[in-house]
Amino acid sequence: MKSIVEKGQTLLVDGPASVSLLSGDVNVLGAPLKVEEKLVVREGKRLPFTVLETSTLELLLGQGACINEVENETVPASWVDATDQILGLGKPATVLVVGGVDSGKTSFCTFVVNQAVKQTLRTCVVDADLGQSDIGPPSTVGYNFLTEPVKDLFEIDAQDAVFVGSTSPSGAINKVIEGLVQLKSRIMDAGVDLLVINTDGWVEGEEAVGYKRRLITEVGSDVVVGLQRTTELDPILGGLGDVKVIVMGSPELIASRSREKRKLLRELSYKKYLKDAKVQSFSLNWIDVEDSILGSGGQLHHKRLQNLRSLLRINPLYSEETLTDVLVVLNKIGGVTEEQIEAAEDYFQKRVKIIREGDEEGLLVGLKDEENRFLGIGVIHEVDYKRKMLKIFTPVAEKVSTISFGQITLDKTCKELGLSTVFATDL
Ligand SMILES: Nc1ncnc2c1ncn2[C@@H]1O[C@H](COP(=O)(O)OP(=O)(O)O)[C@@H](O)[C@H]1O
Ligand SMILES: [Mg+2]
Repeated sequence: MKSIVEKGQTLLVDGPASVSLLSGDVNVLGAPLKVEEKLVVREGKRLPFTVLETSTLELLLGQGACINEVENETVPASWVDATDQILGLGKPATVLVVGGVDSGKTSFCTFVVNQAVKQTLRTCVVDADLGQSDIGPPSTVGYNFLTEPVKDLFEIDAQDAVFVGSTSPSGAINKVIEGLVQLKSRIMDAGVDLLVINTDGWVEGEEAVGYKRRLITEVGSDVVVGLQRTTELDPILGGLGDVKVIVMGSPELIASRSREKRKLLRELSYKKYLKDAKVQSFSLNWIDVEDSILGSGGQLHHKRLQNLRSLLRINPLYSEETLTDVLVVLNKIGGVTEEQIEAAEDYFQKRVKIIREGDEEGLLVGLKDEENRFLGIGVIHEVDYKRKMLKIFTPVAEKVSTISFGQITLDKTCKELGLSTVFATDL
């Protein structure tokens, strides 16, 4: 469908849709759309096409897509103002963007980095929103430098990232903060004029406030930008000392997304980062594991194994012992009672964790090289307990030294099945 839009109007496109410019002058959050360039708007996303000269656009709308033409710019004047203040800061400057769910954080980050690259600043964007990450796969904190304006941060791949393994920060606060501090130091070493950090939408409640304040101070922010509807960010933004605070309202034309849409967006992102994946085998004898009992302990000595067998009255497929736990893997049909487990725990004076062959299927993992750099994500296909081999579905082609275990499980179509604690070390 062709659409002619007058100068000064904005076309809001809610995906799934694709848009190409046939003639005229259009930009998206400050990034110009080239003639003939096709831009995909994912389902659950809205992009504003600001028309600078009367333009003709070709639109392909998928199921549930919609378009809306509105008068004027949808980028608020306060965003332009904040951007001017940010671009006027001394270099290097670190800006952290906070706000609730769907408050415009990603759109503001896109807008500000676009203005910065247009002014030829060396610009880097870090995405610390685990659940709705644009840069890097879900459950990671990723970054990259920009060389030209972008319409959608999803277009950028992560140059480097840290794997957290969960899509919500509440159980992973330290991991996110440590990861960000580590990434920031690498970015500073590489040289940067403007570093923009996007965050997740968890802002209300004591825990969220504490987490966001720690992020601001421990990562070291010169400016915090808050996007708020009413006063929900006051507890986060008050009394931050030397940190400059810029508070803005959310734009009026925000499209909010349902939980289902968020999940769908994550699914698209997993798919993007598992594209061209194949099953690869890794020996537990040759790689390190992180956040997993499996592979972090040692074999039980003969006598202890005998006792384990007699206490559980079963011959486990696999067992392993760490300082605090005994991991016992049973085949699909074997069973043990609570009493037997308790007896074994009494004997070992450790937690005895029973899992079943196959429980590991679909668990999300992160792969790292020998310098501890993130290489990509993967999904556990199966564990061959007899040979101590992990079979992982992953596109990573480089040499892997460490595998970090996440908590999310995915099915074969990259749909999230839920959280798994199968190899969790602290539950
Ligand atoms: N200035 C704007 N003009 C038009 N739409 C916007 C604007 N800012 C945000 N939106 C839309 O509102 C929705 C939420 O914005 P987003 O930036 O993704 O928020 P957050 O990152 O805080 O969840 C998105 O679909 C986005 O395209
Ligand atoms: Mg966002």
